[in-house]
Amino acid sequence: MTTFRHHHFPLSALAVGALLLATGAQAQEAQTVRIAHAGPTSGGIAHIGKDTENGVRLAIDELNAQNLSIGGKKVKFEIAAEDDAGDPKQATAVAQKLCDQKVAGVVGHLQSGTTMPASVIYNKCGIPHITTAATNPDVTKPGYNTTYRLIANDNALGAALAIYAADALKLKKVAVIDDRTAYGQGLADVFKDTAKKKGMEVVASEFTTDKATDFMAILTSIRSKNPDAIFYGGLDSQSGPMLRQMEQLGLGKVKFFSGDGSCTEKLPELASKSAAVANVTCATGGISVEKMAGGQDWKKRYDAKFPGQFQIYSPYAYDATMVLVNAMKRADSVDPRVYVTALPKTNFKGVTAQIQFTDKGELTQPAVTLNAYKNMVRAPLN
Ligand code: ALA
Repeated sequence: MTTFRHHHFPLSALAVGALLLATGAQAQEAQTVRIAHAGPTSGGIAHIGKDTENGVRLAIDELNAQNLSIGGKKVKFEIAAEDDAGDPKQATAVAQKLCDQKVAGVVGHLQSGTTMPASVIYNKCGIPHITTAATNPDVTKPGYNTTYRLIANDNALGAALAIYAADALKLKKVAVIDDRTAYGQGLADVFKDTAKKKGMEVVASEFTTDKATDFMAILTSIRSKNPDAIFYGGLDSQSGPMLRQMEQLGLGKVKFFSGDGSCTEKLPELASKSAAVANVTCATGGISVEKMAGGQDWKKRYDAKFPGQFQIYSPYAYDATMVLVNAMKRADSVDPRVYVTALPKTNFKGVTAQIQFTDKGELTQPAVTLNAYKNMVRAPLN
């Protein structure tokens, strides 16, 4: 009995100790890595923000199924989903919050006006962010090692639209409207410059805001200039009602050009299915999902999780998440200050492209797609 006791207790203690050690070791080994999505998931363009957020969610689910280990520890990824409401001030508050929470990386923001101030904050706290939608060329101008873009910028989008208007459609007179945001105004300026170089006449320059829905006064003034086309620098929450009002004012046959912010699946619905939707040409900063190698399969996976929510840039947000994690794997660290050094050397085969960056964080080979709407459904022209 004594012998038994003598052996029993030390053995039990050993067993308990071993168990504690094992659980302790396991708890230390697993680490939660938070990747943020920051964009407008409330307000007039919540559908565009939700689309990119969904792209991050899909990537995170697929990454977690891979049971990755980084830096010798098992990794579980989690999304930190933040709503910047499309507002530059809220975007800086969101960026500061994500810095304070020490997330590992950020996919966002969606608009140029929110991305530019947020990028300053991410740079200060050393957290990399990849925008998959903000297209103002100035986003990458500071050359921060924390800022990257996965699509073409507005120098390419604005020029492609103007060249198409002048060369393919032989249009002569264009009226230009913008929403006075960093995106809309910048894009309109690029379009105007290229249009003029191509010999087109800019017969009117008007502006509105990214909250407006009544464009009757602007369109009535433009109608008196008898343009062949209207260019709008802004988002679908304005382009939609603008198209319907163009039709109401007898401008239903006037061509309509816009950038990626208008180029959504939802545009026809926002235009109340106005016939003027058939006159839209809009540019997006990458290849369309239809043309991506593996795009069809990717879209099936997206639609299965997020039915009816696809808009434009979710495959790019998906790839952005993958690019961040690819850099973590190569650096063997989830610490943003460590893996940020691996980002410039990215050479990643994504769904959207073979992704490599210039020293400013732009894609080395950005693509542009022009789109039209056939029977109220967006379709790529190239
Ligand atoms: N491309 C748009 C922007 O830069 C959405 O704001």
